[in-house]
Amino acid sequence: MPQARLDDLQLHRSIDAPALQSQLYQALSERIFQGRLVPGDRLPASRRLARDLNIGRNTVLAVYDQLAAEGFIEQQPRRGVFVHPQLPLLKRPETPRVTPAVSPPKPPAVTPPWLKGPDGPMTPPDWNERNAPFTPGLPDLNAFPLRTWNRLLHHQESRRSLMGYDGHQGFPPLRRAIADYLRSARGVRCEPEQVIVTQGAQQALSLIAALFLDRGDRVLMEDPGYRGSRYALHTAGVMLEPIPLKDEVLDLERLPDTTEAKLLYCTPTHQYPMGGILTASQRLRLLNWAVERDVWIIEDDYDSEFHFYQKPFAALQGLIDPAPVLYLGSFSKTLFPGLRLGYLVVPPHLVGAFTQLKRIQTGETSPLLQAVTAEFIEEGHFHRHLRRMRQLYQHKWEHLQWLCEQYLEGLYTPIAQSAGMHLVLERDVDDRAVAARMAEVGYRPLALSEYGLGESPRRGLVVGFASADESELQTGIQRLAQLG
Ligand SMILES: Cc1ncc(COP(=O)(O)O)c(C=O)c1O
Repeated sequence: MPQARLDDLQLHRSIDAPALQSQLYQALSERIFQGRLVPGDRLPASRRLARDLNIGRNTVLAVYDQLAAEGFIEQQPRRGVFVHPQLPLLKRPETPRVTPAVSPPKPPAVTPPWLKGPDGPMTPPDWNERNAPFTPGLPDLNAFPLRTWNRLLHHQESRRSLMGYDGHQGFPPLRRAIADYLRSARGVRCEPEQVIVTQGAQQALSLIAALFLDRGDRVLMEDPGYRGSRYALHTAGVMLEPIPLKDEVLDLERLPDTTEAKLLYCTPTHQYPMGGILTASQRLRLLNWAVERDVWIIEDDYDSEFHFYQKPFAALQGLIDPAPVLYLGSFSKTLFPGLRLGYLVVPPHLVGAFTQLKRIQTGETSPLLQAVTAEFIEEGHFHRHLRRMRQLYQHKWEHLQWLCEQYLEGLYTPIAQSAGMHLVLERDVDDRAVAARMAEVGYRPLALSEYGLGESPRRGLVVGFASADESELQTGIQRLAQLG
């Protein structure tokens, strides 16, 4: 086996141990993606690498453990550490194909086909009641550090410069803070110039639809999948083609070999709503597939902050450069949804078109709220808040699973993944009727069948647990059990 050469590997010494760890992780994973380390290459023993780099051996071991958990490398007892032999080699895209021209938003189809659910038309949600316990995706608003937020709000609100117009792409300090965060926490390759601040992920999806899609176009979608993306992407006459899941992640075997599709929407780091996580090698296969077929991937990274036991896998977007990926995220889960702030990261040559379209569609996003959010991140509150929420949600997640074991055994099957803010309880029932009964007693889980695109959707309930306290969780699950 060839021994990998890492002579050029250097770390910046001025920073602390976690930062060294993330630098080393970045450096090794990049070499794998760039093909400088190929499947089967042997990596230096941890002790030697630690000595060569003059860092602690535990730092190297932690990085090797993470790369092994993600499927990049294999640690073979008594033989050594190798780049995983089954890791696919990555194909490099030329320059991405689509360079959309700005075109005005298209009128919606009269009755878009996706609106017809398998059991008749979908009923519009009752928006006023969306903050009830079990609402999927709603964070714990009581745990939000409101005093700190208000202090920053007060600090920013008298700045005259924030009372006028601001650039459509987004407040520069916020774009800088988002780019720094995404680079270090998610491995996204981006400069602040590539970030477009949006009014939630929803606007990011609408912008993509308006820029990329024309009548008759095809879009591939995970099935089941996020309804908000379906609403946004359906735009007049677009065909949505469902791609089923396998083991609760996008089934790569079912991706069409030849396709006219321009876009593929997916949630690789926590499939919504089923919760599966694409492994490193699946990520590479997906990218290869997209590169070979000129398909753009919409990577919706909506809740990667809440992985309880492991750092989430690096985002697809950062795995190759240039990547045919439109990356989007949101502050709806990490801060609060009423803020209506999200972001898009796009390749530099598309920034102008996106910004121009955003200008036409909605104009700026509130400069004041962007400035408060930027200061919240810069002062370290964001980081602290995420750490606290991860612990809190992990606790609630464990508690909810325990309640399911106590009360729902034999009725529902929990699809438990150690991440996120919701749990899917699967069961072949009239799930819309059950959701409606739960709504009558003040709980708002969603019917799993509403997430389905195909003819025979999976059934059950999608139960948001982040916003409920322990007693609400208990009462809600008991109510559900009583429905039988
Ligand atoms: C899969 C997915 N993407 C994105 C979002 C965030 O949407 P927004 O930023 O528009 O609130 C959500 C929220 O529920 C979601 O579930």
